[in-house]
Amino acid sequence: MTRVIGIISGKGGVGKTTVVANLGSVIAQKFKKDVIVIDCNISTSHLGLYLGLYYTPVTLNQVLTGDAHIDDAIYQYHIHGLRVIPASLSFSDLKGVDIAKLKSTIKKLFGKADIILLDAAPGLGREAMATVKAADEVVFVNTPFVPSTMDIIKCHQVANEMGVKSLGVVLNMVGKDKYELTNKEVEELIELPVISTIPMDKNVLRSLALKMPVVLFSPNSPSSKEFVRLAAKIVGEEYIEPKGMFSGILEFFRPKRTEK
Ligand SMILES: Nc1ncnc2c1ncn2[C@@H]1O[C@H](COP(=O)(O)OP(=O)(O)O)[C@@H](O)[C@H]1O
Ligand SMILES: [Mg+2]
Repeated sequence: MTRVIGIISGKGGVGKTTVVANLGSVIAQKFKKDVIVIDCNISTSHLGLYLGLYYTPVTLNQVLTGDAHIDDAIYQYHIHGLRVIPASLSFSDLKGVDIAKLKSTIKKLFGKADIILLDAAPGLGREAMATVKAADEVVFVNTPFVPSTMDIIKCHQVANEMGVKSLGVVLNMVGKDKYELTNKEVEELIELPVISTIPMDKNVLRSLALKMPVVLFSPNSPSSKEFVRLAAKIVGEEYIEPKGMFSGILEFFRPKRTEK
């Protein structure tokens, strides 16, 4: 069965694309699932940039104009089997795009992946709503501040009205400063659990400069560890964290226990 999970927010710049790139990488790498990440933010597409994919002759845009088949817009992200469907970076490629076709287009991928993650446009406009409609489940990305939280409340209501299951809130860029909303306050306002608290982490910005997800650039950074925990929750699998820096090496040299 293919799960289609929309990564949604009311406000832009809260971390949706970061969550999609990192979650997709971890689910493919550590949990060995077939994952496709799709840039559904057609008007201001970034997912390909975050993954270093610049030369993509066929994109979701051509699929939504009816000029290409979805299979021709899938690119292998080199390391761990993650696949990506980027949107075009060119303004002229917006012409003729029919975002209403998104749901039926994604349906053509059923059976071709375990998990499809959709990187949504922000807000409640047509583009963002097309992603909610195309998804079976949604995860809301929020920051610990009032404006983004207010927008998520609306997004949650819309998802409920559309009959889409809300998995919870990812609270991103958390600094634990006094002026930030706490997890409890966010949960009370949105009426959903906070399923992950991702810290503000400079490694996320460093990894962006190198065009790769932080989970691959700096797997031991605080944000990477949290992305792994979040991925485990989403796939419903237990993940036992390695205990120390040298645990992998020690494991290698440890004599194998022989059965009596
Ligand atoms: N946990 C984090 N710590 C530091 N910077 C982050 C974090 N999450 C995202 N960012 C940065 O914030 C900016 C906006 O993130 P992005 O994923 O593009 O948001 P959205 O897709 O919601 O617009 C990017 O520059 C990204 O690198
Ligand atoms: Mg984005």
